[in-house]
Amino acid sequence: MKRLRFVVTAGPTREHLDPVRFLSNPSTGKMGFAVARAAAARGHDVTLIAGPVSLKTPKGVRRVDVTSARDMLAAVERELLSPLPDLAARALAKAVPLTPTVFVSTAAVADWRPAKCAARKLKKGQMSDTLKLVRNPDILKTVGRRLANSSSPSLPHPPTYLVGFAAETNDVIAEARRKCREKNLEMIVANDVTEKGAGFGTDTNRVTLLRRDGSVEKLPMMTKLAVARRIVRACEDFCP
Ligand code: CTP
Repeated sequence: MKRLRFVVTAGPTREHLDPVRFLSNPSTGKMGFAVARAAAARGHDVTLIAGPVSLKTPKGVRRVDVTSARDMLAAVERELLSPLPDLAARALAKAVPLTPTVFVSTAAVADWRPAKCAARKLKKGQMSDTLKLVRNPDILKTVGRRLANSSSPSLPHPPTYLVGFAAETNDVIAEARRKCREKNLEMIVANDVTEKGAGFGTDTNRVTLLRRDGSVEKLPMMTKLAVARRIVRACEDFCP
């Protein structure tokens, strides 16, 4: 079996307004950790970039902890876009082909952050009733765009395939298709987070895998680890 490189993001991000307050969401990281575990169990090389979660690192997985969306973007860019001297040199020498990389973006990235983050705890008297927010980067979109524009012959990147998640409450398949197209993904995993046993914090999930080529695979309710195994197998299938 071919060995792939997986870079997986998981969990929520936290967007601080001072050292003791932040904006976030209920993601627990279970789905992303399951993907990392399933990929490592198949013998792939796995890096897991995790927001603040209380889960144990799966066996054989390299873990990078981050807090905010901007930290997560920097960590992802380091993994996917920074020069790979040894690999690049070997590939240029045509000794070995570069290992295909799959970026699986399961993280529930906060879309906004407070415009300012105070260095010290804000006292109630110092705070106004409204909070000014600014948009966070879209990690998946940014990385996709940068990969498309970074084909320098002196810094070859391995072929990189993007896999996204779409956690929706309505129009699940249509929204997932839109995101797959707009973020230029190879595959998107759609799930209805309003459904019992699917979504944030559960040990099970019910998802539909939508491929770039239009194929649709609807999976039954299963454990997140079983879903993760199906995702990893699907990635093995579309990687050359
Ligand atoms: N994503 C990301 N960076 C963001 C937001 C989302 O990388 N700032 C990734 C998620 O990890 C997921 C995919 O993009 O793989 C879709 O995320 P989702 O929250 O479902 O959608 P959004 O792009 O935020 O779009 P919308 O708010 O319209 O639902």
